[in-house]
Amino acid sequence: MNQRQIFRTSRLEEADGPGLNPTGNPTMGDIITARFSRRGFLQRSMATAAIAATVSPLALIAADEARAQGTGSVFDFPEVEAGVDANHHVAEGYDADILLRWGDKVFADAPEFDPTAQSEAAQERQFGYNNDFVGFIPLDGATDRGLLVVNHEYTNEHLMFPGIVTLQDGKITVADATAERVGIEMAAHGGTIIEIRKENGKWTPVLDAPLNRRITAKTRMQLSGPAAGHERLRTSADAEGRTVYGTINNCAGGVTPWGTYIMAEENIHGYFMGELPADHREAANYDRLGVPGGDYQWGRYETRFDIGQEPNEPNRFGWVVEVDVMDPTSVPKKRTALGRFKHEGAESVVAADGRVVFYLGDDERFDYVYKFVTAGAYNPDDRAANMDLLDEGTLYVARFDEDGTMVWMPLVHGEGPLTAENGFDSQADVLIETRRAADLLGATPMDRPEDIQPNPTTGRAYVMLTNNTRREEANAANPRVDNAFGHIIEILEDNQDFTATGGRWEILLQCGDPSVAEVGATFSTETTRNGWFGMPDNAAVDADGRLWVSTDGNSNESTGRTDGLWAVDTEGDARGTSRLFYRVPVGGEMCGPCPTPDMTTMFVAVQHPGDGGDDWEGHGRPSYYEDLSTRWPDFDDAMPVRPAVVAITRQGGGRIG
Ligand code: FEO
Ligand code: CA
Ligand code: CA
Ligand code: CA
Repeated sequence: MNQRQIFRTSRLEEADGPGLNPTGNPTMGDIITARFSRRGFLQRSMATAAIAATVSPLALIAADEARAQGTGSVFDFPEVEAGVDANHHVAEGYDADILLRWGDKVFADAPEFDPTAQSEAAQERQFGYNNDFVGFIPLDGATDRGLLVVNHEYTNEHLMFPGIVTLQDGKITVADATAERVGIEMAAHGGTIIEIRKENGKWTPVLDAPLNRRITAKTRMQLSGPAAGHERLRTSADAEGRTVYGTINNCAGGVTPWGTYIMAEENIHGYFMGELPADHREAANYDRLGVPGGDYQWGRYETRFDIGQEPNEPNRFGWVVEVDVMDPTSVPKKRTALGRFKHEGAESVVAADGRVVFYLGDDERFDYVYKFVTAGAYNPDDRAANMDLLDEGTLYVARFDEDGTMVWMPLVHGEGPLTAENGFDSQADVLIETRRAADLLGATPMDRPEDIQPNPTTGRAYVMLTNNTRREEANAANPRVDNAFGHIIEILEDNQDFTATGGRWEILLQCGDPSVAEVGATFSTETTRNGWFGMPDNAAVDADGRLWVSTDGNSNESTGRTDGLWAVDTEGDARGTSRLFYRVPVGGEMCGPCPTPDMTTMFVAVQHPGDGGDDWEGHGRPSYYEDLSTRWPDFDDAMPVRPAVVAITRQGGGRIG
């Protein structure tokens, strides 16, 4: 396949460079290669060839027809047609209703959204930008009333603000930030907690609800756990190393079994600018994370984001944040026990012995898969007893071995190479420099680990590996060396025990177009031309144990389709069959997805719609505030395109999918 794909996603998602992992740990490509060359390369390559030969366009049409007659899939809905246009699309028989858009009121007294008169004060009371993670926390056990928790990962200035873009040689240049703009951007980051209710089958926000809250890049937070108070976390504004203002680049996240909201801090490097003082202690630490990334200009007005002025500030970001949503005055806690890296998310599951396991992806090319096991057990009868479970436990990093087994290696100070000799004087040092500690343990470098979703009913977990086009070692046994479309790994923990320190792994899917042999995609032959996808990012397992996968990076040019939400069979003969349930407007990315416990609603988040469209004949040029590729969801000339959370329900009621 020729490699002219352009992945139109945010600058933070697809930063240039080979990845930041300097080690020679064998890559996933090496291991898959070795695995298949030893155990079954011949069968494997024949299988791939067979799929490629079978899945011609005609075969895909035949598959469409076969699908209509039933194929053993656990899903049953009419598939959406894949493609690219200015609108979103959901399966026939379903409604996709806009629930919350950027700028919508989160409080009854919030100002109406006026894109031409934005202010920091208004944005602090309105729904933020670029909704990513979506969680639903039922209130009082109700199915029709709950808190929606939503991350606002980052901001796209060229789509948000009028009058700041100039075109030079067909490329967008954005004017330097002003103090006012930085204030708005910081207020548009963070998260939203808002009560929603379902009346007559439709969800609506409750603007006067007592628990509604906006969290921003300025909200006061507390560092807790083993690294809290460490000298490397102290700054001129915080001599104690325990109080941080704000959370940034909250990508995916989670909801804990005790009903708190987890916000994962991902690409934090982009918010820092400036230069460290010469020979500074943090130089290697920051290199490993790409700090300073210089994507934003906040440091010009908020000097803590200038590492020349505040060299320790980046150590206070890159954590997992826990928010007690039942108290709108609670101080969110950055849980240092879960390590510091580019946290994609933190989905959790209660193990058989009551301890809680959090799966953690570090989203960078050649970085690692982690899990955290709490020391204490979850108490379902006493919410308060669980509130600091995340301060004590063991963080593990994964090594995937070529025989299909895997080892979870503990990141514990004093064990193995994690000693003073290697610059780790305490557990705090191990956690602050988690990546470097994991390098020394020989963890397996992966193709950008995103969301990792445990399935509580099967003891398995699904790892979204979004892509890695910088993987260079070509090998006939591993057609995914230049992994443009990503893959999904299924982990089966030993004895189906999520706390296990060992397990087995399989590749559930290699993504991409199965009708192009060179791609090497492994969707089942029942998958239609609409059903395949590239670049898996987020995932959800619903109450029936079914897997849903959302994507980041599909476009007209890369795959001839926008991002969307796909339903993926994992069991039986239908394993590896995927079908398209919902797709986003041009330029967007599909986040969420969040099925309600009663399965009557699927919440999804449409992130950065309109960020792109140069490669789509409906626009064919750069997209920015004055010349947008879509004005979804309002389609009002006075209103820019707006990221939004969408509630998908079945017409006439009933379960989804
Ligand atoms: Fe923000 Fe890893 O996607
Ligand atoms: Ca993501
Ligand atoms: Ca998820
Ligand atoms: Ca992503």
